[in-house]
Amino acid sequence: MTDEQLIQKFEEYYGEGEAPRLFFAPGRVNLIGEHIDYNGGCVFPAALCIGISAVVRANNTSAIEMRSLNAAEILSIDLNNPIVSCGNEWTNYPKGVIVHLQKEGFALQGCQVLFYRNLPEGAGLSSSAALEVLTAQMLLSIANASMKKSHIAVLCQRVENQFINVSCGIMDQFAVAMGKKNNALLLNCENLNYQYFPIDLGEFSLVIMNTNKKRTLATSKYNERKSECDAAIAELKKHIPLTNLCEATLAQVEMYLHDPLLIKRARHAVTENARVHAAAKALVAKDLVQFAALLSSSHQSLKNDYEVSGIELDCIVEESLKTDGCIGARMTGAGFGGCAIAIVESAKVALFKEKVLNNYYHKIKITPSFYESKIGEGVHEKKIYVPH
Ligand code: GLA
Repeated sequence: MTDEQLIQKFEEYYGEGEAPRLFFAPGRVNLIGEHIDYNGGCVFPAALCIGISAVVRANNTSAIEMRSLNAAEILSIDLNNPIVSCGNEWTNYPKGVIVHLQKEGFALQGCQVLFYRNLPEGAGLSSSAALEVLTAQMLLSIANASMKKSHIAVLCQRVENQFINVSCGIMDQFAVAMGKKNNALLLNCENLNYQYFPIDLGEFSLVIMNTNKKRTLATSKYNERKSECDAAIAELKKHIPLTNLCEATLAQVEMYLHDPLLIKRARHAVTENARVHAAAKALVAKDLVQFAALLSSSHQSLKNDYEVSGIELDCIVEESLKTDGCIGARMTGAGFGGCAIAIVESAKVALFKEKVLNNYYHKIKITPSFYESKIGEGVHEKKIYVPH
């Protein structure tokens, strides 16, 4: 769907009137640094060019109406009334953002909104963070208010933690808000310091592969991992002055933790954080072979120590690694289904996809999807083209 078609749809739903505005927030792919954002580690995500668009028109009332071309439920609220979450509907994300913007004291404006998502949902590419950050940026803009994008990210993380009840870290919201075209973002999740790294993969390409296995149990297992890490850091702090789990050394983990499960979880956090720094270095040195090898070790750690992979993700990663031209692969995002990434020689990508598709289908009986998205910009307003 083009932007022009989306605006046309908006006018079909809401009628013609004052010119609407158009906003876009991307999904994100995490190159490496998985499940360590809530452990104070460093992560290395990048914004995509696929994401969610929103057409919006202020209506000078206190009524907000939001629709999506991807779902049936309509959000219809009055800004003067209390807002409550409801089931698993997509509308909970914008509702949560409204609640938290109001808590910050922003006087929001009534409006009509139409969303359209060309990013798969529940696939580990942050469609929920995109929806949150997009809603916040759009509602602030039409209320003539502003907030630093990094603060929008923090507010949206609060929405997930307090309104949606997922104890997620800051990575997704930060990448969606702060992403930069052709760059990955090395983010220190303890202090939110960040640095952009141009992504130049030389003769290689980044292939995103969707197992098309919807993430089941993701929320409960996610919160469970977070509690296990909280237990591990609490135990370590009894012996050494640490700020977060990623700061520990492997020797400390082995010396002070006794529960084998907590040792595995902590070992993932510590080794994954080290892999992120090594991967950023390898990228700068244009050592793609080393970079890709780190991605593959990250997968092993997520599979064996952190236990957030699954048969579908393991299968697509194994099939990728067996296929000619692939030098590294791993699951990306929260896990338990969703997407994986592979670094593949550009000249061999077409054949790679064909082989992985066939071999994965043969074993799992689900057809995987592949995405070509480039690395794009974080949330932004788009100019609307008006034909003369
Ligand atoms: C989800 C969360 C992030 C992060 C990843 C795993 O995407 O929203 O905060 O923890 O999982 O790295």
